[in-house]
Order: sequence, then structure tokens, then C-alpha cells
Amino acid sequence: MSIDPRTFRDAMGRFATGIALVSTISRAGEPLGLTINSFSSVSLDPPLVLFSLARTASRFEDFIAAGRFAVNVLCTAHRAVSQKFARHGEGLWGELPRESWTTGCPILPGALASFDCTTEARYEGGDHVIMLGRVQQVCFAADGEPLLYFCSAYRAVSGPLSG
Ligand SMILES: Cc1cc2nc3c(=O)[nH]c(=O)nc-3n(C[C@H](O)[C@H](O)[C@H](O)COP(=O)(O)O)c2cc1C
Repeated sequence: MSIDPRTFRDAMGRFATGIALVSTISRAGEPLGLTINSFSSVSLDPPLVLFSLARTASRFEDFIAAGRFAVNVLCTAHRAVSQKFARHGEGLWGELPRESWTTGCPILPGALASFDCTTEARYEGGDHVIMLGRVQQVCFAADGEPLLYFCSAYRAVSGPLSG
């Protein structure tokens, strides 16, 4: 049975997720970011995480070549950050503040959690590549309001986000 892509997207949209800003350093040495919601934990020992990277992403080759990435979990105050890094061609980190930990990938100050990873493996995933990361350094905030994504819209735990 063939699955209608719109129906598939709408069905997946019923799975509420957080939002993360995944980052790396380009082949030219520039800090990059990409908004994702395909982040997941994989293994506790060793500590492994994954995200799916679209083959069509304009920074696809940079993420593949880097051999490292960081995942920054966003809070509601980061909605504009999420929107910027979801726009076509807006992958450069620019003036956004950043820290640098073990791998040198951009770490977003104020993120709910950050995972600094080396790329452990890559797997074919249709029109995406599944990026498996080994966590080299991790930090989390004691509190904060997560930025959620549900039915193609940003939300807070308490309900829809205004504006
Ligand atoms: C809520 C949300 C979740 C997204 N999740 C992913 C994802 O998991 N993997 C991915 O490759 N792109 C994801 N994207 C799309 C990228 O953010 C977007 O296609 C990319 O930043 C566009 O820039 P580009 O065309 O210059 O690559 C997501 C976008 C949004 C708004």
C-alpha cells in the first residue's frame, strides 16, 4: 500500500516533540546550525544519541564531513532561533552567542540541555541520513520551559504560544 506523503506528515505531526538546534563546524571553519525535531536518545552505555539529517539540507556535506555535532535543546525563549535555523540558507551561526566544549561545535548558552558529540556512525534512512553521536560532554539546566512542536506549530507545555 502506498502511503500519501501529506497523510504521513500529518500523522507524524501528532507525535509531540521538543525542538533542538544541531550545530557543527563547516569545512570552511564556520559555525553552523540546523533546526531539528528528530533527536532521540539511543544508548546509556555508551552514551549515544541520534538525529536524522535531510539529504536535501544545504549544509548536508558539512555535517557529514565534520565528524562531530552538538545538540542544543531549545526553550520557549528560543522560538526565533528555531525559526531562523529552519529557513533555507540561514545556517550560519552569525552573532548568536556560543560556547565551545570538547568537539568545538557551537554550544548555545541558555539551552535546556546540550550534548557535544563525535559522529559514531551514519546509517541510510531514505531521504535522510541517521547520524549517531557519541556524547563527549553534556550539561542541562535545572529548570526552563521547553519549546515543543505539535501539529506543525510551536507550543509550550502550558498550551499554544502566542504571537
Ligand atoms: C520543527 C522543525 C523540525 C525539523 N526537523 C528536521 C530534522 O529532524 N532534520 C532535518 O534535516 N531537517 C529538519 N527540519 C528542516 C530544517 O530545519 C530546514 O529544512 C533547513 O534548516 C532549511 O535550510 P536549508 O534548505 O538551507 O538546509 C526541521 C524544521 C522544523 C521547522
